[in-house]
Amino acid sequence: MADEHREESQEEQRKPEPDLTAVFTGSQALEKAPEIYGVPTGIEGLDDLFFIVKPVKKKLEKVSLKGIPAYSVMNLTGVSDTGKSLMAEQFTVFRASQGDKVAFITVESPANFVVASLKLRAAAMGLNFDDFQDNIILIDAASSTRIRENVPDLLATLAYVIKTYKVKFTVIDSVTGLFENKEMLARAIVRRLFNFMKKWYQTAIFVSQKRSGHEELTAEAAGGYAVGHIVDGTMVLAKELIDSPYKAKMYKKEIGDIVRLFRIDGCRMSGHDTRTHFLEITETGLVKIKEPIGGIKNGY
Ligand SMILES: Nc1ncnc2c1ncn2[C@@H]1O[C@H](COP(=O)(O)OP(=O)(O)OP(=O)(O)O)[C@@H](O)[C@H]1O
Ligand SMILES: [Mg+2]
Repeated sequence: MADEHREESQEEQRKPEPDLTAVFTGSQALEKAPEIYGVPTGIEGLDDLFFIVKPVKKKLEKVSLKGIPAYSVMNLTGVSDTGKSLMAEQFTVFRASQGDKVAFITVESPANFVVASLKLRAAAMGLNFDDFQDNIILIDAASSTRIRENVPDLLATLAYVIKTYKVKFTVIDSVTGLFENKEMLARAIVRRLFNFMKKWYQTAIFVSQKRSGHEELTAEAAGGYAVGHIVDGTMVLAKELIDSPYKAKMYKKEIGDIVRLFRIDGCRMSGHDTRTHFLEITETGLVKIKEPIGGIKNGY
């Protein structure tokens, strides 16, 4: 019998065996548990929306994390043109300006276009890109079909980048581009990426695209592939046309205006604001999270 056939039949007949590497007592697991703290994002209005509850003078109090939870994998989702890429770029630029190394996996737009956009983002934020440009390591999955279509090769590339440049932050714009034409595999791919981020202690942002305008502000991310159930938290971006006097009154806007909206749809790693907020994209392309829309239940 050829070796490969022997291996195959052995695999089929193998008696179930426990995997002891998957078993931890509470204290053993705690030894590996990272302390939760906030990572400032450079996005105005966002950082105070995450909090933890701490005992202060024998009472439990909400304390702002002042950022997204460290080591979390956050899904940033919305339909086209809602500001996902702008936000992801703003986060990348801000972390790099603070001296952190950020891996930016670009799946839709080639690296030379992304870097031009990152430079514009820096200028809008009043930062000098030249001072920290090499803190950003671009992985161009838009140009390399091999890494775009082969998750193990992509992760091997990312592992190399993380080790070589001591990367702590990973941004993927977008994960949806990694399962084009193979939506059946969406969950498996995102699960694999998620596990990888955890293994390498990355704080990560996965951008994902929503297909339709239906249920704008729910976490039916990536067109309903339930990516939201795998990641630690989801931030949803939406835009709405003011096309009725009712909406004009509700949002205090004029008919014909566009309102942009933002909501955190769950975060396992910390407490979070649950209200829907206005979102603004300035002329220079900066995303700001504004006041909650207040008293309005937008589809939930
Ligand atoms: N200076 C600017 N630079 C870039 N975008 C700007 C600027 N000012 C305003 N915008 C707005 O921001 C939007 C771009 O948002 P962004 O590229 O982040 O969308 P997205 O959610 O990533 O969309 P997609 O899913 O298609 O990638 C534009 O549609 C534009 O209306
Ligand atoms: Mg985009």
